[in-house]
Amino acid sequence: MRRIVLLAAALSVAAMPLRADEAVTAPVQGRDAFSRPLPALDPVHRAAFHAGRSLFQQVWTVGPSEVRPDLDGLGPLFNRQSCVACHAKNGRGEPPEGESDSMRSTLVRLSVPGGGAGAAPRPHPVYGDQFNPDGIPGVPGEGRATLVWSERIDRLADGTPVALRRPDLRLGNLGYGPLGPEVMTSVRMAPPLVGLGLLEAVPEADLLALADPDDRDGDGVRGRVNLVWDAARGAFAIGRFGLKANQPSLRQQNAGAFDGDLGLTSPLFPQHGCTAVQTACRAAAGEDAGEAGPELSDEQLDLVTLYTRALAVPARRNTDDPLVRVGEELFAAIGCAACHAPALRTGPSPALPELAGRTIHPYTDLLLHDMGEGLADGLPDFQATGGQWRTPPLWGLGLTAAVTDRPTYLHDGRAHSLLEAILWHSGEAEPAREAVRRMPSLNREALLAFLDSL
Ligand code: HEC
Ligand code: HEC
Repeated sequence: MRRIVLLAAALSVAAMPLRADEAVTAPVQGRDAFSRPLPALDPVHRAAFHAGRSLFQQVWTVGPSEVRPDLDGLGPLFNRQSCVACHAKNGRGEPPEGESDSMRSTLVRLSVPGGGAGAAPRPHPVYGDQFNPDGIPGVPGEGRATLVWSERIDRLADGTPVALRRPDLRLGNLGYGPLGPEVMTSVRMAPPLVGLGLLEAVPEADLLALADPDDRDGDGVRGRVNLVWDAARGAFAIGRFGLKANQPSLRQQNAGAFDGDLGLTSPLFPQHGCTAVQTACRAAAGEDAGEAGPELSDEQLDLVTLYTRALAVPARRNTDDPLVRVGEELFAAIGCAACHAPALRTGPSPALPELAGRTIHPYTDLLLHDMGEGLADGLPDFQATGGQWRTPPLWGLGLTAAVTDRPTYLHDGRAHSLLEAILWHSGEAEPAREAVRRMPSLNREALLAFLDSL
């Protein structure tokens, strides 16, 4: 591994900080840094953004409600009563801090073997594809999910200790009997939601061009697209959303969240997810079916989808700071940028024309990468293996602490700091991680200052 030394010369090299496109970024900091609409939104879309936001913040009721029948339909089984309960301020969630704490903004996906390579995960025969702790009155919840942490000490090359904790999932008070030995689980913390419409507008061809499944360029970094079922089109499509790129579009991602997290049916997913054994759930769902149409209307799903498409990316800060500029160079030089792609371009965007034809700086390739045993969840999801995750976007990263009370990183929130998150990188990212472990501390400081400027 090449040793990158901080040289005075590096400061004079023209490391032009990437100029963010002002039409899609908001010069905002603080608690609302992830809550602004794209400045470019036209007035009609701006009004729809606000209507979508109120549905995103809505605390849904069980119903039936005579006053607001459009805002009921929670359950029969659910995780939380609103989207914002997990995505507070559109930021990331927080994992439970220990056994006495419960999962408030983290969820557990479930599966059993036999789904077949490239197929959707096979749901657990009794508990379905997601653990739903709560039920409406008369319907037993599925139980209590929490995490217990164990810690090990990792060391940087200069001997500095860094404590790395990993979670052990505990599922208790099981409402429908034992889960059985075959169950596979995946703990996922709610990710931040800025800039997603821009990621949706990146042409499929560009993602395929970034992919390198056979490592033709020999840099050890592969990257493959996930191919997932697109329910609206009735065909496979490239996945972009969800932590394993398991959803093809924001509309489907959101309909899936209404269904899986809140228990609301929609035109895209008109059936409740009760399994055959969950009789009280089925009975309650049957009563719902007597009502006209799905619980969420097409229009409501469209409004929430516009909201998630149109959240602006916060503008970068401190881009002229020499430390940040050196950090940016190191980020590219040691191979972080091989996955966290610094620049992409959006194509046409019929759904929201304001997003079309823009250069963006998301620091993701939206591709799946093998991140090694330590981060693996062992639960395959379409083309994604149990060890692969989608590169998460890093834009807005430096404002995490402003938006979220107890900021944590990675898919299950195991990392308390960006350095811890980097030290968990393994598999395809091992050389990049080793470079960070070995670099002089001033270089590490520069790299972290760069991440903090995003
Ligand atoms: C119980 C917590 C929880 C609730 C409630 C919740 N989410 Fe999420 N959200 C998550 C998690 C966890 C993920 C990652 C899912 C995955 O990997 O499959 C996610 C992913 C997303 C994404 C994709 C983000 C990305 O970077 O790919 C969007 C958009 C989203 N949620 C919107 C919503 C909407 C809209 C609602 C309300 C209908 C909602 N969420 C309710 C936890 C939650
Ligand atoms: C081989 C691809 C790859 C390389 C190389 C790589 N990363 Fe990552 N990075 C990922 C993936 C995938 C995740 C998500 C892993 C998870 O959640 O378990 C991630 C997560 C992160 C996170 C946490 C983000 C969050 O929102 O929680 C940070 C910070 C990060 N990477 C920074 C870096 C830096 C700095 C480097 C270079 C030293 C780097 N990465 C190199 C793929 C990569």
